[in-house]
Amino acid sequence: MNSIVYGDVVRPANYDDYEWAINLLSRAMGPFYDCDYRARTRRLFDQCVGDNKIAGHYLAVADLNLRPTGLVHVVERKNSILSIGLLAVSEEHRGKGVGGKLLSFVEGHARDNFLRFIHCTVASANNIALRFLNANRFSVIDTISKRHHGQVVDETIVGKMTDEED
Ligand SMILES: CC(C)(COP(=O)(O)OP(=O)(O)OC[C@H]1O[C@@H](n2cnc3c(N)ncnc32)[C@H](O)[C@@H]1OP(=O)(O)O)[C@@H](O)C(=O)NCCC(=O)NCCS
Repeated sequence: MNSIVYGDVVRPANYDDYEWAINLLSRAMGPFYDCDYRARTRRLFDQCVGDNKIAGHYLAVADLNLRPTGLVHVVERKNSILSIGLLAVSEEHRGKGVGGKLLSFVEGHARDNFLRFIHCTVASANNIALRFLNANRFSVIDTISKRHHGQVVDETIVGKMTDEED
């Protein structure tokens, strides 16, 4: 199993973050994906935080003044790929670089563990996220239509090599 290094701002999630995370994810992702966010968040915490957590799944939180402001879920895949499952920042903290810090954390983890490629799938209607990822040098790889809980969502897959110059 690979190691993960957290920093001053980005730390591992814990169950105290759980209610905050349900609220964050339902507000941030609800406009794009119709889903039971309480159940989704429970699965996420069980995969990454609980006693039965799964190797290669990480859930990290960025704090400001000891309060959670944003979170990112990453999964180590085969073939040196790191996948961003979820990335979201609370509305009141957006536009202040928190998303960028979480992305730097993800990129640092990928580099430290020789994971050569990072990818992320975003609802194609999510223009802000696509602009954010584009500003962070992610390129569009593909567009797909995928069924999520009975709802078909157009999605854009973006990716970045970890050895690209910033
Ligand atoms: C996408 C998201 C994570 C960005 O987080 P953030 O903390 O606001 O991002 P940052 O402050 O680090 O922004 C960095 C860059 O992203 C782009 N960006 C961020 N918010 C933007 C907005 N509202 N409109 C346009 N561009 C925006 C800009 O290019 C910005 O660079 P700049 O400040 O130099 O202009 C945040 O908007 C969010 O949580 N959205 C809902 C969840 C989501 O859509 N997740 C999708 C997975 S990526």
